Amino acid sequence: MSQRSGISSAPLADGGDGFSHTHLLGVEDVSREEINAILLLAEEYKRSLVSRPDERLTTLRGRTVVNLFFENSTRTRTSFEIAARRLGGDVVNFDVATSSITKGETLVDTAETIEALGADFIVMRHPASGSCEFLMQHVSASLINAGDGAHEHPTQALLDALTIREALGGVEGARISIIGDALHSRVARSVIWVLTRLGARVTLSGPSTLVPIEFASMGVEVSHDFRESIESADVIYLLRIQTERQASNYLPSLGEYRMLFGMDSERLLWTKPEALVMHPGPVNRGVEVTREVMESPRSRILGQVTNGVAVRMAVLTLLDRARQRHAMEASSGR
Ligand code: CP
Repeated sequence: MSQRSGISSAPLADGGDGFSHTHLLGVEDVSREEINAILLLAEEYKRSLVSRPDERLTTLRGRTVVNLFFENSTRTRTSFEIAARRLGGDVVNFDVATSSITKGETLVDTAETIEALGADFIVMRHPASGSCEFLMQHVSASLINAGDGAHEHPTQALLDALTIREALGGVEGARISIIGDALHSRVARSVIWVLTRLGARVTLSGPSTLVPIEFASMGVEVSHDFRESIESADVIYLLRIQTERQASNYLPSLGEYRMLFGMDSERLLWTKPEALVMHPGPVNRGVEVTREVMESPRSRILGQVTNGVAVRMAVLTLLDRARQRHAMEASSGR
């Protein structure tokens, strides 16, 4: 189901940290070792965020991170900003609505202009699948995909893996049930790549219009029976119904979706007593999940958001190290 290959420029020698890419366009082609390198560093950063919350690191001193979001965001944009500042970098939140894009400036011209102004990292969210990969051919700043169409949302999947690893002690062998609008979901695709690569057993469930059988080619089991799909799960991962991408056209009604696939307190009783509930957000309250479940001790929804900062710090750090190695190798003619 992948629309295109997920990663970056040609891998470089990893410099000992297990990570060798200068862009993060997706996770489809990121190895298990590289995912583990990101999670390990994120865990280290998370400990430092808890024990030394006021600390400003110098890792990104002198670097500029530009958030270039063509679609709205609460979590991703804010956590990239917090992560970059925590690492000592400068952050610019580019405002698409008041930019020259409204006068017809192209994506390439905008990105080249941002780079000419000194961007070292461009964190981009765009409605077109593959837009980051396209832009990579035009800029030398590190590109981080913050969500492109229905293609990928790599840092969301990485923070989800961190959340599962913290809660269960590991991802290998964990039974993860992903429920909902997989068809329109970049999160679903990235989460499937990351969790299957780490050895999880993933089931995808929802209405057949939103969970076509073709997803089985990604190494997941496809089930259209909600109860069966959650009964043995360690984690129930609920996806948002993406009404802005016309997902409701694939359903008789949101009410019917809630009746068949919504998670409420009664249905939580069908699950294992320790099973966790996750959702990438934003939530359609009362559709995918009720307020009671969101606020129950089983919910990790806000924990996922918290983990976004540490994971994005790790991604920025590892990309920056790879960029530095790349520059050194280029200057020494290797
Ligand atoms: N999960 C996620 O990407 O949330 P935002 O749209 O708020 O960034």
